[in-house]
Amino acid sequence: MRIMPLEKRGISNSRIVFGCMGLGGDWTSAPLTKEDYIVAEKAVEAALSIGITMFDHADIYKRGKSETVFGEILKKRPDLRDQIILQSKVGIRFQDDVNPQRFDFSKNHIIPSVDGILSRLGVEHLDVLLLHRPDPLMEPEEIAEAFNLLRSAGKVRHFGVSNMTAAQMRFIQNSLPEPLVVNQLELSLARLDWIEQGILVNQKAGIDVNFEGGILEHCQMADIQLQAWGPLAKGKFSGRAIEDEPENIKHTAALVQKLAAQKETTPEAIVLGWLMKHPARIQPVIGTSSPERVLACQDALRASENMTREEWYTLLESSRGVRVP
Ligand SMILES: NC(=O)c1ccc[n+]([C@@H]2O[C@H](COP(=O)([O-])OP(=O)(O)OC[C@H]3O[C@@H](n4cnc5c(N)ncnc54)[C@H](OP(=O)(O)O)[C@@H]3O)[C@@H](O)[C@H]2O)c1
Repeated sequence: MRIMPLEKRGISNSRIVFGCMGLGGDWTSAPLTKEDYIVAEKAVEAALSIGITMFDHADIYKRGKSETVFGEILKKRPDLRDQIILQSKVGIRFQDDVNPQRFDFSKNHIIPSVDGILSRLGVEHLDVLLLHRPDPLMEPEEIAEAFNLLRSAGKVRHFGVSNMTAAQMRFIQNSLPEPLVVNQLELSLARLDWIEQGILVNQKAGIDVNFEGGILEHCQMADIQLQAWGPLAKGKFSGRAIEDEPENIKHTAALVQKLAAQKETTPEAIVLGWLMKHPARIQPVIGTSSPERVLACQDALRASENMTREEWYTLLESSRGVRVP
């Protein structure tokens, strides 16, 4: 079995990450309800039951409520903290009465944001902290200063990024003493720009592809863990109502169902398995809060190992709606 980049750095983690954006009720500042705690607990239990040990947060998810509800679970099960890898993100600031929605990689934003995360989760440290989305006003030296302070205070062990190009990663890395360990991007069987970019080099058909060349290669060469957000394509291929979706999505959903039946597995495992078969050793960050759907992801690694090259390309062709050039 190929070693995952995080494993190579001694960060023991699971092949699938549980994304916590779905936990914590709604996106308003309304207080958490009893039901929100129950939903979170059941989803996290389901994730643990299939061997997931890495959990992905962000300070903005449900305006902090995702982390708060997770913190309650940790409080009830203090043994859990040492068995899991906790990742969160900073750098997005919501619009308020005075200010617009914006990104903020300033030291004065990063450090108190991490303090807020640690307090909501009720933990001493984060294993991984990601910069959520590129801030056009970022200054790598200032990011480095913030990271150094957080590391030396024992608040964060490793740092990474999300939604960034290879050039942006190199730009930040240039000022850091330690390697960035993660880049989290939207990658899925529905969102194919990451594949199209490589296939359509020098082709007119590639004009609208929105994925900078070299991200996958840079991460693989530098042992940076690629994580996929949106890996289940919001359920488009695994049971969600898709009457209004285009023909390629409907066709792919049917194909996924057929493959799942043939291989005696679930559509979720096929969808994730397709992603995990890619040699970049992508770690899907699943966002479902339904325990049944979490359990349906259990077989994803086996599905990826059993998927032939021809099946992989058949799924790709179906989703892109046209054969590869
Ligand atoms: N770095 C970033 O910028 C970024 C952006 C977005 C997300 N993320 C992270 O990535 C994680 C996953 O992202 P995601 O939630 O967009 O991806 P996802 O795993 O592709 O989709 C999960 C969503 O799809 C729904 N869904 C899945 N299967 C379904 C089905 N058969 N029928 C109906 N609904 C279905 C889930 O609802 P149920 O809960 O009802 O199953 C949930 O709302 C998040 O939790 C977060 O940790 C990161």
